[in-house]
Amino acid sequence: MSPTQRTGLRSAAATGHARALGIGAYRPSRIVPNAEIVDAIDSSDEWIQQRSGIRSRRWAEPHETVQMMSVAAAREAIAHAGIAAGQIDAVVVATVSHMLQTPAVAPAVAHELGLERPVAFDISAACAGFCHGVGIGNDMIRGGSARYVLVVGVERLSDITDPTDRGTAFIFADGAGAMILGPSDEPGIGPVVWGSDGEQFDLIRQREDWRDVLDAADPRMPHLVMQGSAVFRWASFEMAKVAREALDRAGITVDDLDLFVPHQANNRITDAMARAIKLPDRVRIARDIAEQGNTSAASVPLALHRMLADGEARSGDLALLIAFGAGLAYAAQVVRVP
Ligand code: COA
Repeated sequence: MSPTQRTGLRSAAATGHARALGIGAYRPSRIVPNAEIVDAIDSSDEWIQQRSGIRSRRWAEPHETVQMMSVAAAREAIAHAGIAAGQIDAVVVATVSHMLQTPAVAPAVAHELGLERPVAFDISAACAGFCHGVGIGNDMIRGGSARYVLVVGVERLSDITDPTDRGTAFIFADGAGAMILGPSDEPGIGPVVWGSDGEQFDLIRQREDWRDVLDAADPRMPHLVMQGSAVFRWASFEMAKVAREALDRAGITVDDLDLFVPHQANNRITDAMARAIKLPDRVRIARDIAEQGNTSAASVPLALHRMLADGEARSGDLALLIAFGAGLAYAAQVVRVP
């Protein structure tokens, strides 16, 4: 007699496949060009553009909170998906800049959207958070624990960035992106390839623990700090392997791809990855970083949203998503564009 027969335990019925049904974005109203930040970091518009590809970024105004931006992006994604908000039974928010240790922002986002008792939680996987959320949502739908999942990537990194830090002040920015996942007759989301390298925990981090901040004689915001060159090397070399594995596991090659949507960390990292995986010239590459900076968990959905808005991406295209950041954490998957 098997253990199942003895206990009568049942597992959720697997339901088949999932796909992305809709996408939404919220870009804060305030545009901050390089010229506005260079004096505080003894830099130049030319240096920033050449080293990172960033021309301007957006920083949120006080009313553009993590919750407000999440809800705005989610509403657009719900409308794009053509579902009723009430059909969503799970809300997954990826963020590192919701400033309450607890509770998570996801239940508040769900409540403002008018959802009734959905599962709602945040995930902390930094810049890789959105791709983690898509991986989790895909598995929830396939595993039968949810039918429609809202995945949000949202940040207000301007709150936790030191405007005088030469290594980060020009990089980090604010915004929100959202995607609705739902059931599908055929696979619309490839297997997630994800992992972490905790040996490099200190390469991108909050400078110090909150308790150390509060015990200090002059408490100050524990800003993000980053060892940029080490992150750059890691991302440029290691992430190409992850990208290749995501293609292999989805059963496709670069020749089947229409879009490459990497985390918008640095155009030079994007170029290095594209070269390493031998991306054909015809595959369109997301370059949202130029106007948006690095919005961490929001960067992949914002970048895909812009490609759709600009006509560079079309519904039905195959997109390779890949994101990486503090942890170090990473995740990648192939997605059919909604
Ligand atoms: N403005 C002008 N000059 C700067 C500068 C700035 N903001 N920051 C550093 N420099 C100077 C340095 O002083 C150094 O000068 P030197 O050669 O005379 O000593 C030179 O530029 C190179 O510094 P380095 O730190 O090696 O720069 P870099 O080429 O590595 O570029 C980053 C810096 C941050 C753009 C790059 O490391 C990077 O993009 N890293 C990855 C960041 C990232 O993706 N983070 C998010 C991951 S989620």
